[in-house]
Amino acid sequence: MTDLSQAAAIASPTAALAAARPFTIARLSDVAGAEIHGINLAKPITPELRDAILEAFVAHHILVFRDQHLTKDQQHAFTLNFGELEEHVGRLPDGTQYPPVHTVTNLDAETGKPTPTPSTHGNYFWHTDKSYHAIPSLTTLLHAVQVPPEGGDTLFANMHMGYDALPEDEKVALTGLRAVHSWEASRRNTGNKPATEVQKQERPPVDHPVVRTHPETGSKSLYLGMHIGHIAGMPEAEGKAMLDDLLERATVPANVYRHQWKRGDLVMWDNRCLLHRADRNYDMSVHARVLHRTVVIGTKPV
Ligand code: OGA
Ligand code: MN
Repeated sequence: MTDLSQAAAIASPTAALAAARPFTIARLSDVAGAEIHGINLAKPITPELRDAILEAFVAHHILVFRDQHLTKDQQHAFTLNFGELEEHVGRLPDGTQYPPVHTVTNLDAETGKPTPTPSTHGNYFWHTDKSYHAIPSLTTLLHAVQVPPEGGDTLFANMHMGYDALPEDEKVALTGLRAVHSWEASRRNTGNKPATEVQKQERPPVDHPVVRTHPETGSKSLYLGMHIGHIAGMPEAEGKAMLDDLLERATVPANVYRHQWKRGDLVMWDNRCLLHRADRNYDMSVHARVLHRTVVIGTKPV
């Protein structure tokens, strides 16, 4: 390093990181998302590389690593760079608990065949992961093991954009409002098998601000989705009408990045400022869609 570039690096830690960055970044859309090339996620990464990945993650909200072919243990190890893994309240069809690296699939648990009615289909509704936890998720990582020849996309809606587009008086009206999220409401909202008494005890309702502030950037975003039962202090129907209306405006196509999966993709996204859902734009009774999933715990939304 010359004296000059050293000085620049000291003046700007971001420039220093960029200089040390051993990967390339290509933005995927105006809404969010960047493709990262040049890293093999199957190998351990250094703290410096982790920090550079995190910097890109905060800037782009979604990182797409192509052509990764990770074992579950390798995905587990890579995920641990970003924090502690979540435990799951849901149970597999055989009643056992989800392992830390589990599978999102449309394959029927009994027949092993593709089905339009898999044992859980909550992923097809707009949500942010684990918002029914007091401390919800920071990021989720999905690794595409088997994908349909076309479709089976995942949609991501940028909730900073959803918030920024609101009229000023509405931003003011939403300030201080809290939404009550629960596993029970989530199962009800999505027509899934109802929460059991044990699950309700394990995951009592929690409330979070409707407008949250990103802990890294300080930017505000809407914190919505199918895990919400009602708005605290508001009649249920009134709160639901308000939330449905907000959700509709926040998820307009102009705010959405559509991820079209390729086998080998590893996608990690920021649950603190995005909603996401799977798209049924493939023949679920014919094609298999299998993704390996890990979820990292975040911080209390404020
Ligand atoms: C998830 C999820 C979306 C998808 O794994 O949290 O919502 O496209 N997945 O399957
Ligand atoms: Mn999800």
